[in-house]
Amino acid sequence: MAAFDLLNLPTDYVPNAYAYFANLRAHSPVHRNSDGSYLLTRYADMVDVYRDPRLWSSDKRADFKPKFGDSPLYEHHTTSLVFRDAPDHTRIRKLFQHAFTPKALAALEPRIAALIKGYLDQLEDAGGMEIVSEFSFKLPVEVVCDMLGVPGEDRELIRDWALLILGALEPKISKAQFDAGCTAVDDFKTYLRDQIALRRRNPAARRQGEILSDLMDAEADGEKLTELELLHQCIFMLNAGHETSTNMISHGIHEFLRNPSEIAKLQADASLADSAAEEVLRYQAPIQINNRRSTADTKIAGVPLPAGTVVHLMLGAGNRDPAQFPEPDVFDIERRPNRHLSFGLGVHICAGNTLARIEARIAFQELFRRFPTLRLEAPAKLAGRIRFREVEELRVSL
Ligand code: HEM
Repeated sequence: MAAFDLLNLPTDYVPNAYAYFANLRAHSPVHRNSDGSYLLTRYADMVDVYRDPRLWSSDKRADFKPKFGDSPLYEHHTTSLVFRDAPDHTRIRKLFQHAFTPKALAALEPRIAALIKGYLDQLEDAGGMEIVSEFSFKLPVEVVCDMLGVPGEDRELIRDWALLILGALEPKISKAQFDAGCTAVDDFKTYLRDQIALRRRNPAARRQGEILSDLMDAEADGEKLTELELLHQCIFMLNAGHETSTNMISHGIHEFLRNPSEIAKLQADASLADSAAEEVLRYQAPIQINNRRSTADTKIAGVPLPAGTVVHLMLGAGNRDPAQFPEPDVFDIERRPNRHLSFGLGVHICAGNTLARIEARIAFQELFRRFPTLRLEAPAKLAGRIRFREVEELRVSL
């Protein structure tokens, strides 16, 4: 295990990630990388870090300066709320709250159900489908673009920008990836500025409950959000709100199809769809790594860590920790309790977690209700990304 290094991962890492995690958890749970950062693989250690945001900062300026310099990528990733600490984080997070009230989310449910019905109608007509492009990508992007108020015809653009901007967070990126990420941030900002200008010129274009309009009003109130903050929160929402959910749905369908007994359980009792969504999230965490930096000297599991140490919270490892989840490698849609870490924990816990859960519940319920004999054409093709566990292709047939 001494040789394991996040900055120089073995070539077979992605398909065998959970075996590597098991080894790390057992033999080196606070594991030093070649750059002095540490990997955490035990559930309890990650919970401790999440619960102490003063000691464990989310502020990424020190990390991103050497990586991104004074670039658009630096500006974006150090302005979005996920990478900031109190008091800025608290101020911005409050503004997001009303977009995610139970009432606002309940209003989205019929739209989510109608979108899913449409994709499943297509599956029925065609007799088969490539799930990622035809279903699991389309749903979350439609929903999050609706929430923000982005026009339908621009949704492919948003996906491309999201991939480039979030892709730049991988532990190692090429010059070409860096340049493309910077261009994506600039283009995205120009795009949103136009959308904002449209609403300023024509207040009737604003819709109640639309996040872009709500955040603009918050900005107009005074010191609450600067223009740059407004733009970068919107970019972050559009990015965070779909790639993760896309992978949740793709992985979920894949795991169900690999475990027909779980499909049978869901068909027998549709109310299991909620716990099924939790199990999918636990089993294949769409975001595999969260990071924090210590603000003072500390210790984790007896390992001394000086102030300024970066830790990588390996969520996929915590979710399979046998100390927290009995038989962690078994996919069991009835698992309870199931307090997985896929949405993080503490002050930065995913603002969109209820929305993602609604999407998963309806997607799995409807898919397996309508198509009890759905089959995998081939095992899911995984992308080589480390931070996001991404399904690239998943072919199914009726
Ligand atoms: C399966 C889907 C999703 C997963 C696995 C996921 C995962 C996460 C995780 C792990 C964090 C915490 C990051 C940290 O502590 O460093 C987070 C934060 C966040 N997520 Fe999600 N997310 C999902 C869907 C969504 C959706 C649909 C939205 C919005 C439409 C969203 C919006 C956010 C926001 C705004 C934050 C920042 C919260 C803060 O810093 O206070 N997410 N997400």
